Amino acid sequence: MRSISIFGATGSIGEQTVDLLERAGGAEAFRVVALTGGRNVARLAEMARTLRAEVAVCAEPAGLAELRDRLAGSGVAVAAGPAAIAEAADRPADWVMSAIVGAAGLLPGFRALRHGATLALANKESLVTAGPLLMAEAQRRNACILPVDSEHSAIFQALVGEDIGAVERIILTASGGALRDWPLDALARATVKEALAHPNWAMGQRITIDSASMFNKALEVIETREFFGVAPDQVEVIIHPESLIHSMVGFRDGAIMAHMGAPDMRHSIGYALNWPDRAELPVARLDLAKVATLTFRAPDLDRYPALRLAREVMARRGLAGAAFNAAKEVALDHFLAGGIGFMQMAGVVEATLLALDRDLGGDKSVMDLEDVLAMDHLARIRADEIARQRAGER
Ligand SMILES: NC(=O)c1ccc[n+]([C@@H]2O[C@H](COP(=O)([O-])OP(=O)(O)OC[C@H]3O[C@@H](n4cnc5c(N)ncnc54)[C@H](OP(=O)(O)O)[C@@H]3O)[C@@H](O)[C@H]2O)c1
Repeated sequence: MRSISIFGATGSIGEQTVDLLERAGGAEAFRVVALTGGRNVARLAEMARTLRAEVAVCAEPAGLAELRDRLAGSGVAVAAGPAAIAEAADRPADWVMSAIVGAAGLLPGFRALRHGATLALANKESLVTAGPLLMAEAQRRNACILPVDSEHSAIFQALVGEDIGAVERIILTASGGALRDWPLDALARATVKEALAHPNWAMGQRITIDSASMFNKALEVIETREFFGVAPDQVEVIIHPESLIHSMVGFRDGAIMAHMGAPDMRHSIGYALNWPDRAELPVARLDLAKVATLTFRAPDLDRYPALRLAREVMARRGLAGAAFNAAKEVALDHFLAGGIGFMQMAGVVEATLLALDRDLGGDKSVMDLEDVLAMDHLARIRADEIARQRAGER
């Protein structure tokens, strides 16, 4: 029986992973080792009971008493707090889903690799902040990382049987997000609610806003560079409003392999779960005659400054990814709280990168995970100062 852990089980990716496990036989078919959640203790407890998990861990220590009450008599062990989440990753499991949102997902993924788990990686922040370390750890432990982001799963699938040396370019598709057709001068006034109205994908709140600003695509550009080891200028972005081509690989003979399917994350989660096989999945089949037309357009960098910043981060390398991600998370928090406007997020991130350049005098080489976490911490402090200042000027 395959053993499985899910980090971020109560989130959008986590729920869809649980859905696939239940359809494939649930507790009768899998030994579920660890399930973790954040604040949604009720749902975490419910899943842990249904899937007969060995341990359920919530991120908030304040949730422990409720988790214990809800799981009383179930035989599921309970724990709480970031350290307990990392310890849950020390429990060996064959397949581990990394689906915590943000930099909090970094440590559990690393710890799971230590015992050679196959790591299904939805947490793109892990590659953005610590890509070289994560890839080296996987190699050292003879562990395997499978991308779960739909774009990277598409690229991975387009590369099966191919020589990476024959790749000329990787073309990431982007929906353009909820505000893609707004006039440029109206974007500054966009509200959280408006940025959350994603045209194609149903996702967690943070990634949906990041889709509208294309900070999500910026992270994915860096993720592509780190995961597939291609040069930054080999990674392109194209807006494809229908979201039916999930990404493409262009080869040196001019061929382009595109991966298509309905916009449903259970495809890439299911691909990672069943890899290297393919299993039947409960996703809609495309009716191409109904689709009829696929459209593409180049992204406007004035509308999506995050894409320009991603290029700068790749040029800086080292700890720039950790600084970029942390600053982006803080800027998003301030936008969600109503402090700064939608278009100010990129300004906060850019100013943070510049401030850190001054603080550190250019010394941002990645040494180990501690350096990444220290940069994450420092960038959050700087970004918070800058965002507060800009909120005051608004
Ligand atoms: N959703 C998608 O379609 C999609 C697609 C591609 C990639 N991804 C990536 O997958 C990851 C998860 O995205 P999502 O949309 O599933 O996010 P989400 O719906 O916000 O869920 C995030 C999960 O992480 C938990 N969590 C939040 N803060 C935490 C913390 N500080 N410590 C531990 N756990 C914490 C949440 O718990 P509670 O809900 O219980 O608070 C939840 O289980 C992200 O890195 C995202 O970029 C998502």
